[in-house]
Amino acid sequence: MTDEPYRTIIEPFRIHSVEPMRMTTRAERVAALAAAGYNLFELHSQDVLIDLLTDSGTGAMSAEQWAGIQRGNEAYAGAPSFYRFLDAVTTLFPFRHVLPTHQGRAAEKILFTAIGRPGLVVPNNTHFDTTRANIEFSGAQAVDLPVPEGLVPSVRHPFKGNLDVAALDRLLAGRADTVPLVMVTVTNNSGGGQPVSMANLRAVREVCDRYGKPLFLDACRFAENAWFIREREPGYADVAVADIVREMAGLADGMTMSAKKDPLANMGGWLALNDDDLAEQCRSLEILTEGFPTYGGLAGRDLEAIAQGLTECVSEDYLRYRIRSVAYLGEALEAAGVPVVVPFGGHAVFIDARAMLGHINPLRYPGQSLACALYEEGGVRSCEIGTVMFGLNPDGTETPAAMDLVRLAIPRRTYTQSHMDYLIEVVARVAKRADSLPGMRIVSQPRQLRHFTARFEPVG
Ligand code: F0G
Repeated sequence: MTDEPYRTIIEPFRIHSVEPMRMTTRAERVAALAAAGYNLFELHSQDVLIDLLTDSGTGAMSAEQWAGIQRGNEAYAGAPSFYRFLDAVTTLFPFRHVLPTHQGRAAEKILFTAIGRPGLVVPNNTHFDTTRANIEFSGAQAVDLPVPEGLVPSVRHPFKGNLDVAALDRLLAGRADTVPLVMVTVTNNSGGGQPVSMANLRAVREVCDRYGKPLFLDACRFAENAWFIREREPGYADVAVADIVREMAGLADGMTMSAKKDPLANMGGWLALNDDDLAEQCRSLEILTEGFPTYGGLAGRDLEAIAQGLTECVSEDYLRYRIRSVAYLGEALEAAGVPVVVPFGGHAVFIDARAMLGHINPLRYPGQSLACALYEEGGVRSCEIGTVMFGLNPDGTETPAAMDLVRLAIPRRTYTQSHMDYLIEVVARVAKRADSLPGMRIVSQPRQLRHFTARFEPVG
């Protein structure tokens, strides 16, 4: 940044290659939506104008990352690309063992295959859907312990992603022998992309130590979390982001990771840990499904892209722009009277669909209805994070999720401010006719992870 006090925080990059977008008419979008069974995952992305389904793997890579792609070495074992990856990972996360995986959920699958079984309980501030599904698939139970502020979209709190330490203590006091490890997700994606404070991580660590439990981070958005610590937590204003990340890692015994988020890669992930015995077990499992432990489901070129991305995502200019551009969107929606989760998270703005569409019962999926309306109105693809995603219990019954949110996830370094201005107009227009949006009914659904493939129809 320059030292001058300009108000406009600019994108700290120039555009180097472009990907044209296809404009569609409202009639085309209405037809596409019906053909997709009102499930936005079923749309062809060519029919989407602004794609905010996810910030995962959808970012733009830098010139240096593309150069790394060329440098990729594809040796089956011991490729230099692996050692560059290992170096970049352990510079920020100095764990003894690092197992590359093709994405975050593969790391979760390996970890919970090794340590999960019926009768066990895994607490987390809030499990992401794949983490929950992998734990439940092992027969164990996934328990969310967010702080109470984290469940009220309109409450302002600097660290709404925090884990409820007293609740964790109570859980461990009652049944410590059934808890194989404690997880903390940074930032708390399902809870609104909200950060976790260093003080909270320290307090969780202290409880884990008292009961002899390992602490694992689900660290997908570690750099955004570290930026919030720097901005909001006393004592960190002058600490380098990379040092904050190392301090977070130093409080944990291991991590699962999706390199498709903060590391700015289109694919990849890893499992890292200190425990030698568990690492050996995990390596054997990795070979079964991912590949030899020096490539683990990735091409050498992917490992290079991740290694370079890890150096770029802790840059202060990048993070200042990243967090500011998400807040720009959030502030404009708030000013337009749209109920949004505040303060704004790191990777997304979350609309409180339950508040905006108060006339729709949560079991008629207000979030799904809103997401469909945003697509129909302006070709914007968002993602329901609510009762469709979390409402189906393992026994087949259904209960409303804690919140019904619609996430506008912002791909990294991909959209410009004028894209955001267009998006703001689209959301504001839908907000004006929110009262007239219909509820939705599920026509067909699978037993697990239903949000990806369920089919819906509007009710009334
Ligand atoms: N943990 C968190 C907190 C996540 O947000 C994700 C993915 C994963 C784990 C799994 O990683 O996709 O590489 O297998 N979140 C994406 C999203 C899909 O849209 O939020 P993955």
